[in-house]
Amino acid sequence: MSDVMIEARDLTKHYGTVTALKNATFEVNRGEVVGFLGPNGAGKTTTMKILTCFVAPSAGTARVAGADIFEDPIAVREAIGYLPESTPLYTEMLVLEYLEFAGKMRGLTGEGLRARLRKVVEETSLGDVIGKSIGELSKGFRQRVGLAQALIHEPPVLILDEPMSGLDPNQAAEIRELIREIGRERTIILSTHNLAEVQVTCGRVLIISRGQLVADDTPEELAARAGKPRFIATVQRNGQSPTDISEVFSKIGDAQSVKERDGSAPNELVVEVVPKGNQDLRADIFQAAVGAGLILVGLEQRGENLEDIFRQLTTGGAGAEP
Ligand SMILES: Nc1ncnc2c1ncn2[C@@H]1O[C@H](COP(=O)(O)OP(=O)(O)O)[C@@H](O)[C@H]1O
Ligand SMILES: [Mg+2]
Repeated sequence: MSDVMIEARDLTKHYGTVTALKNATFEVNRGEVVGFLGPNGAGKTTTMKILTCFVAPSAGTARVAGADIFEDPIAVREAIGYLPESTPLYTEMLVLEYLEFAGKMRGLTGEGLRARLRKVVEETSLGDVIGKSIGELSKGFRQRVGLAQALIHEPPVLILDEPMSGLDPNQAAEIRELIREIGRERTIILSTHNLAEVQVTCGRVLIISRGQLVADDTPEELAARAGKPRFIATVQRNGQSPTDISEVFSKIGDAQSVKERDGSAPNELVVEVVPKGNQDLRADIFQAAVGAGLILVGLEQRGENLEDIFRQLTTGGAGAEP
């Protein structure tokens, strides 16, 4: 088997007049944990349903673990553990009963089934709750049950649709850690609309917006796109002209540009200083102000952060919500 575990070629999906997905082409290699990042309505769930053979694409095709979604959907499903967006968990069932059921649905029986149950319960740390009904569990534990269900048949590929959504920060951190553990020996695609999640969990990020892939980067590459910092200094005017004040900061060696605007108070001027590279100019700004007898009443660093990049890539037009 080649190292490409998921291969999507020109996937397109129309729902009536809505184009949910348009010519999506991407590959995921063995062992990668790839984040599928996009705002609500971007087409993440649609892509995942196509890969798991729950929905047929209108055009294009895909292969999972070497099997074609059209020619061999059974092999595709066998290769995949799937955690749907809203897990259809049976709330009255006990955790163990449910996982047994999930295993039987995957064709496991007898000692083979018991061995896998023991393994997934251990992997997802469900030991303390296997005798509880699913309805009693916290959302975080329900997600663990969903993950255990996805892992029961030892699939090489996991497709997780918004596995951290709806969890509180502690639960999300636990699930994230669990996914990282699980991802050591598996290929994973997980979707999210939360940028911070992919940064820590994923080795690569596919950004999808309005049905189209708009970026395929490592989190580091995405961060590098995030551009330069800017420094916002607020000084008292004390009768000096804005241009005279700006001039003070223009003399900073590493400053590329200096712009001034009115501050929120009448006696204040706000000066924005952009460095030539990525230099931190806070100390230079402070010293320049002191040297010129200016009273600095505020100084902060801003930058185009990843959130800004994400927003730039994914906003504007139908289907993109914040
Ligand atoms: N069964 C469906 N029928 C009609 N439109 C759908 C259906 N499923 C999804 N869509 C539409 O397709 C687009 C992509 O949806 P989806 O793949 O669920 O996005 P995401 O998971 O990124 O939020 C949205 O505009 C959504 O309204
Ligand atoms: Mg979705």
